[in-house]
Amino acid sequence: MMKVCIVGASGKLGKYMVQHALDRGYTVVGVCRARSVEKLDAFKGRITVIPGDTNDREVVKRAVAGCDGVLVVLAPMGVQQYASGTAQAVLDYARPGARLVFSCGWHITLDGQDVYSWKIKVLVNVVGRLARLARVVDLDDQVEACRRVFASDTRWTVVRGSDLEEGESQGLPVWSQHVGDPILESNITLRVDFALFMMAALENDELVHVAPAIVGCKTRSALAHATGA
Ligand SMILES: NC(=O)c1ccc[n+]([C@@H]2O[C@H](COP(=O)([O-])OP(=O)(O)OC[C@H]3O[C@@H](n4cnc5c(N)ncnc54)[C@H](OP(=O)(O)O)[C@@H]3O)[C@@H](O)[C@H]2O)c1
Repeated sequence: MMKVCIVGASGKLGKYMVQHALDRGYTVVGVCRARSVEKLDAFKGRITVIPGDTNDREVVKRAVAGCDGVLVVLAPMGVQQYASGTAQAVLDYARPGARLVFSCGWHITLDGQDVYSWKIKVLVNVVGRLARLARVVDLDDQVEACRRVFASDTRWTVVRGSDLEEGESQGLPVWSQHVGDPILESNITLRVDFALFMMAALENDELVHVAPAIVGCKTRSALAHATGA
């Protein structure tokens, strides 16, 4: 049986990942801020919860010990290097050879070949800057977190989420190497299916050292691509 650690387990994406992991019969260790532990009450007795900030290196060290896979929600929250601190701790302490799967948004680029719409550019450059000034969100730190992941010699995958929505699962999202590819045009994914893709990546070695940008499998652009229309 696989043992996985979910870092950022109490968030919306994290809770979906916990459920998917339990459905697969995995042993689950979750890390979340102490104040958020109660958000995981529905899983009481079925998972181990290690409370603490996800950029607390000692907390992460304890949580990832003996895990075959680590699923990490890279949250660009606050301006205290939360995302990069989290990523660095996982890179440093996950066991050698463990599968590491990180979540982020389309704004992250692996090779600079992504082509962004004006809407995404405005969101990142204007809204992102304003959010940083307000000390709420630091997208640059999520960029730094991913830079460190890409540069590491670990077995990583960075899953780049489109805009997200809630709703019942439609199945595994489709993906492409670059934002701007026609299949991704619809730019929407169910959060529950984003989590499904994170889990599937754990067991898909073809995604090692890849940063798939995902979109819902039932979206217009995904269906158009599938039928070759
Ligand atoms: N939202 C979108 O539209 C969108 C689009 C594309 C990609 N993504 C990516 O999807 C992933 C999940 O994002 P989400 O928006 O769906 O949110 P989410 O799953 O609810 O996750 C947010 C995480 O941030 C933590 N958090 C919230 N406020 C914090 C603070 N002040 N300090 C430290 N941690 C804090 C939460 O922990 P607590 O439970 O302790 O609050 C939770 O672990 C992220 O990697 C994100 O980049 C999101």
